[in-house]
Amino acid sequence: MIDLRSDTVTKPTEAMRKAMANAEVGDDVYGDDPTINELEKLGAGLTGKEAAIFVPSGTFGNQLALFTWCKRGSEVVLGEECHIIQHEAGAASVIAGVQTRTIPASDGVLRPQALRQRLRKAELHFPATSLICLENAHSLGRVVSLADMDAVRAVADEWRLPVHLDGARLFNAAAALHVPAREIAARADSVMFCLSKGLCAPVGSLLAGSRDFVDAARYKRKIMGGGMRQAGILAAAGIIALQEQAGFLAEDHERAKYLARELAAIPEIVINPEEVDINMVFFSFSPARDAVVAKSITDFFAKRNIIINAPEQGVFRFVTHYQIGDGEVDAILKVSREVFV
Ligand SMILES: Cc1ncc(COP(=O)(O)O)c(C=O)c1O
Repeated sequence: MIDLRSDTVTKPTEAMRKAMANAEVGDDVYGDDPTINELEKLGAGLTGKEAAIFVPSGTFGNQLALFTWCKRGSEVVLGEECHIIQHEAGAASVIAGVQTRTIPASDGVLRPQALRQRLRKAELHFPATSLICLENAHSLGRVVSLADMDAVRAVADEWRLPVHLDGARLFNAAAALHVPAREIAARADSVMFCLSKGLCAPVGSLLAGSRDFVDAARYKRKIMGGGMRQAGILAAAGIIALQEQAGFLAEDHERAKYLARELAAIPEIVINPEEVDINMVFFSFSPARDAVVAKSITDFFAKRNIIINAPEQGVFRFVTHYQIGDGEVDAILKVSREVFV
């Protein structure tokens, strides 16, 4: 099967499975798991932060960041299309107990003027802003430039506010910008990144920041039930994700760009290949706004062993990853040329 739904579908590599089987473990809630300790140290080093903490998922890591930074009832400012707003089931209101204030950012970029208009200090009628969140790479498939991140950092510094970076795909952003991950992370006070997206680890994310922030997050992780005991078995795969798999992300990006250019040659497809920054290809095919047509397209792919997500309002998203090579891309294009007519 060729699975184009997401890079979360990647499966652990053989090297990961061996490392998992042989991992040295201990009780991580006591700080005794040497493999988790090694992963946390590695993650902190790669992001240039003092410390990092292992968490079960990207959502957990983002919500733990909000829970650690923000007072209940305060306000978090972030982009309208970001994952925390769109795909975390309203968790910010449940866990951290914060109000979110969004900024239109169709390309994932928070513009200083729009940001300044939304920041506020506590007053009789106003909650105080407690945090600004960025996302890079953005789940819209876009990468935010270092200059755009600097502009947000400058506003945050004016207001003495912390910045949290949802870097679920931090290493995709690093590959796309041709910089080490720590250069991107340097623009934020905390950064969450995932080991289980295109990096093939089965489970896990890291939240990195200053030593004090991570100590506070460790306490809040306990509240959230995220202390995972002998989870070194999972961390062992995470170490390989960072050391071996991150280097392949640029190939996923190249395949996505190729796929986009070839899809652009199909007259009924609307796509701008210039907007493909990472491993995500978004395109629209307007007849698929109709639910019956949409279903017939997903079925057509499924019958040819290709799994795709149903389109949203005629917009499809194809995601390349470690388990999609050149042969798979050719197969996807062949079926696309037959069905998008
Ligand atoms: C940008 C972004 N942030 C956070 C997450 C959440 O990660 P998880 O699915 O591990 O909770 C995702 C998941 O796809 C994501 O794309």
